[in-house]
Amino acid sequence: MSSSATAAAVSQNDTAVAQKNYKIVQDVGNFAETEANRPDFDQEKPIEVTKSPYPKWEYGQGVPDNGASLVQKHHEIDPYAPDRPMINNYRLLVSGIAPRPVGFLSTISSQGQKNLSPFSYFQVIDHDPPMFIVGFSSRPGRVKDTYRNLKETKECVINTVSENMIEAVNASSIDAPYGVSEWEVSGLHEVPSTTVKPSRVEESVFNIEGKVIDIKEFTDHQQPGMSLAATVLIKATRFWVKEGTADPEYSHIDLDKLRPVGQLGGVSYGRITSTFERPRARWAEEVPKSQLLADLDATKPE
Ligand SMILES: Cc1cc2nc3c(=O)[nH]c(=O)nc-3n(C[C@H](O)[C@H](O)[C@H](O)COP(=O)(O)O)c2cc1C
Repeated sequence: MSSSATAAAVSQNDTAVAQKNYKIVQDVGNFAETEANRPDFDQEKPIEVTKSPYPKWEYGQGVPDNGASLVQKHHEIDPYAPDRPMINNYRLLVSGIAPRPVGFLSTISSQGQKNLSPFSYFQVIDHDPPMFIVGFSSRPGRVKDTYRNLKETKECVINTVSENMIEAVNASSIDAPYGVSEWEVSGLHEVPSTTVKPSRVEESVFNIEGKVIDIKEFTDHQQPGMSLAATVLIKATRFWVKEGTADPEYSHIDLDKLRPVGQLGGVSYGRITSTFERPRARWAEEVPKSQLLADLDATKPE
């Protein structure tokens, strides 16, 4: 066997071992049976606005629950401990940092191959300039097509995910064979973009065309048989907001129209059916109303 053939055989073996240990996709047993016993999804459920949890909260009060939230102590974890399986970090992070928006990315390869996939390691991180971040986890074998496309063509469309889209969005995450279109698998509709090649998702309330401005690859963390993990920084080049879902200036999207889906741990999603508000405070206006703030204000350096 040539040395390159040996290397390929070794790496295929590494990938097979990595695959065996990779348990990110949760086994949910007979899901159809489990779900059959649950109430139907209420499509018309209104979004109520309530008071905040402690509307009479005062400065310095912390959580006004008579110490109940201080009873249990914390358990310390080293995420890199040799006996801590990676899967435990995955489960801990996706259940503990929640809810997360779904970053639904449309990309295209240099050969014109289209891709549509959801990512939960996603967030808007600035508005001036409008910037977004997407994380691609390491997995057995090659890197995700979306990441490869972003690296190759540096373009994408970020599409919002509303409640009515979730089954279609989830279907687009299937490990379809190379060349099979997730657009067709999902049944979602393509509409052309203006500043980038990948299409927009017509069903989404909000589409953001964007270009890759930076990529950080975590080469020092790569394990045998596993793909590279990477984080991609994307700068928006165009916004598209569905008509009838925002104010006349297109400066605010109506929550009742967006109906966003929040990702929780495991295969759980949450919906927003109840909200509350808390105004932002200004020091100069609050000091006269609070003895604590007045005392703190008196101690500030001249
Ligand atoms: C709601 C949802 C969120 C997901 N989030 C991520 C993620 O944050 N990172 C990731 O690597 N894969 C994530 N996945 C899995 C990818 O969507 C899936 O691996 C997809 O097949 C990748 O496709 P690609 O190889 O065509 O880019 C998620 C799947 C779903 C359904």
